[in-house]
Amino acid sequence: MSEQIEELKQKALQELKRIDNIKDLESWRVHYLGKKSPLTQILRSLATLSIEERKVVGAAANQLKTLLESSVEEKGQTLREAQIKSEAQKESIDISLPGRPYPAGHIHPITQTIDEMCEIFGSMGFQVLEGPDVEWDYYNFEALNIPAEHPARDNMSSFWIDTAEGERGKQLLRTHTTAVTARTLEKNKPPIRAIEPGRLFRYEASDATHVPMFHQIDGIAVDKGITMGDLKGTLYEFSRRFFGEDRKVRFRVDYFPFVEPGVEMAIECMVCHGGGCRLCKSSGWLEILGAGMTHPDVLRRAGIDPEEYTSFAFGIGVERPHMLRYGVDDIRLYFTSDLRFLKQF
Ligand code: DAH
Repeated sequence: MSEQIEELKQKALQELKRIDNIKDLESWRVHYLGKKSPLTQILRSLATLSIEERKVVGAAANQLKTLLESSVEEKGQTLREAQIKSEAQKESIDISLPGRPYPAGHIHPITQTIDEMCEIFGSMGFQVLEGPDVEWDYYNFEALNIPAEHPARDNMSSFWIDTAEGERGKQLLRTHTTAVTARTLEKNKPPIRAIEPGRLFRYEASDATHVPMFHQIDGIAVDKGITMGDLKGTLYEFSRRFFGEDRKVRFRVDYFPFVEPGVEMAIECMVCHGGGCRLCKSSGWLEILGAGMTHPDVLRRAGIDPEEYTSFAFGIGVERPHMLRYGVDDIRLYFTSDLRFLKQF
């Protein structure tokens, strides 16, 4: 009988090895472990055996039963796993592939440009200061040598706010970030080195080069012995870092009421490189900022002695340099939230 059990074991395990699906496994189970299986019959017949035989055969038969039960369990597990995997493959899902990246948003090109400009001036020791969008006449105009009736007010048609009027005049949406410079001078003691990024507002109709709200960064440096050379060096370095190593720059005299002398800085046209084209209106140059030596009266009004300290100031647009750098031909694109545009930066 023990031989019979051993034979049964070999046969059962061999057959089990070849099984490759759940259905055959179930038949195998019925065949080897079911009520009518040879093993069950052996176990049932134990009672007819002598005590010695019963001990030996009984132990072997029960051992085989345990072995077959655990083997069928194990095989079932393996087959079920294989099935899940093959079904996944049928749906052509490769579970070993890395996940698809989730589309993430990014910083708006205007903010990116402000950040980059702040980074450049920041590395030259300028701290970033901000002022309010709703400004007093005083800081926007009076403090900057632009009294009422001054013609410079005309090319800055403003959004006036009628509800408030105080000792600093009426309120308006500031027309340049130079208003923050007026505040910076009043609030700080020299030496001062600050840049002031922000929005500004002008009462203008929109077209490809005009919008009623855009951005600027003004800058101011005040110290003993500041010269025009410092102004040129600082702005030249800015241009080199923002527009590229070998971009030529040109300084020319210009007029702004709050600086004396005043200058305008232009960079060599990136389209024609000085040859003359439509972008630069055949001049070969693109104006990008206004600057100058801060007018003594502006310093004096803020409580800074112009005999002791000198100062330079500048104001640069944000949209225009970005447009020039990337060949964007319509300023309104920055404000329409069109992702096809924004995603390019
Ligand atoms: N505020 C001037 C404008 O909006 C730009 C400007 C010119 C700013 C000269 C300055 C400066 O600080 O010194 O057109």
